[in-house]
Amino acid sequence: MTRHHAYDVVVIGAGAAGLMAAAVAGSRGRRVLVLDHNDQPGRKILISGGGRCNFTNRTVTPANYLSANPHFATSALKRFGAADFLALVKEHRIAWHEREHGQLFCDTSAQLILDMLLRQCGAASVEIRTNCRIGAVTGEGPFEVATGHATVTAKSLIVATGGLSIPKIGATGFAHGLAKRYDLGVTPLAPALAPLTFSEPDSGLMRDLAGISLDAEVAFGKTRFREAVLFTHRGLSGPAILQISSYWKPGQPIGINLLPGVDAQERLLERKAARPNALVETIAAELLPARLARALTERAGLTGKPIGQTQNAALGKLAALLGTWSPVPAGTEGYRVAEATLGGVDTNQLSSKTMASKRLPDLYFIGEAVDVTGWLGGYNFQWAWSSGWVAGQSV
Ligand code: FDA
Repeated sequence: MTRHHAYDVVVIGAGAAGLMAAAVAGSRGRRVLVLDHNDQPGRKILISGGGRCNFTNRTVTPANYLSANPHFATSALKRFGAADFLALVKEHRIAWHEREHGQLFCDTSAQLILDMLLRQCGAASVEIRTNCRIGAVTGEGPFEVATGHATVTAKSLIVATGGLSIPKIGATGFAHGLAKRYDLGVTPLAPALAPLTFSEPDSGLMRDLAGISLDAEVAFGKTRFREAVLFTHRGLSGPAILQISSYWKPGQPIGINLLPGVDAQERLLERKAARPNALVETIAAELLPARLARALTERAGLTGKPIGQTQNAALGKLAALLGTWSPVPAGTEGYRVAEATLGGVDTNQLSSKTMASKRLPDLYFIGEAVDVTGWLGGYNFQWAWSSGWVAGQSV
């Protein structure tokens, strides 16, 4: 028999954003129920940041996010920012440290961040129901949510089911489907923060170089990131590649400078003048990891030649590979491994102050389900906390 339960707020999705929203709403005296189809809450939190959860970044601005509406994130990030989340982490005595580019991580385990959120939910008497299959959602406020166990009713509904990345741990397009059913737009979706794949001959070269990692500058249009690039059996990965993958458009090349801050042509000509008898690959190996130097010299057709006997124009070809290599990715590795999803519920139809639908003020979308995608470095969690917090304050 179907039973009915009345809540002030039902949150669908017990991830980063949903748990934050639930705890905040509960602390304001709201009767809150959180539903999730997984057998435990916060699975993505647990695997994040290599198990240590890069929970925010020292400096977070709207410029660290991709969205069709670049100003949308401003209000929520201002109302509950990185310093606010860090204050919570400190209050709960979670040991943390800062890494390069302002990234803040737990010292020991991401579990502590999840425990903190669950403790806050517990203190606010939030009910969390896992292993819960969500059926039809009806109403325009109040809402009825059919689950495997019962139909629940709530004045407000917060949709926090995240994006499409890593279906293996429970990601679904639930939020996008529901948004469409309520006449909200969904911007085009694509894997973000994902390794890039290439076709021959680049893929063969990269496969041969698998395991090599180096500091490089990777660009797409005017956007550039200087971080590590990693050659893999499938193409390119590493933080600089993950970052640029969010900006990359199919069919277009990315720019890779393997010698950032160095004029490659000038450097080769200098060495040519100073040591004309040295082989080109020997000189290249002074600038780059030896295996990579050898492969690129071979690609430029200069292996086995003393640099003094090499035309400047030919050296220019090598310099171009070192400084302005422009391979065209075949694609990304997809949602299987992407750390985020580009696109989501159209922000034009949401209030940037509360995350509520402009048309249906009791329907909220938060976190990665929304068309706000952060850079690598703690920005996606910060968006989950910020958007969750403002929704929790509003319901
Ligand atoms: P999230 O995905 O956390 O939660 C959604 C919840 O909804 C899940 O519990 C899911 O089970 C549930 N759900 C989905 N569909 C459902 C359905 N149909 N019915 C019921 N429940 C459903 N970011 C960062 O800032 N720092 C980091 O260190 C990392 N590291 C990282 C590593 C890896 C491997 C990945 C894949 C991602 C990251 N991220 C990250 C990104 C970050 O994890 C992500 O942006 C947030 O978890 C998004 O929070 P949400 O609450 O929006 O979704």
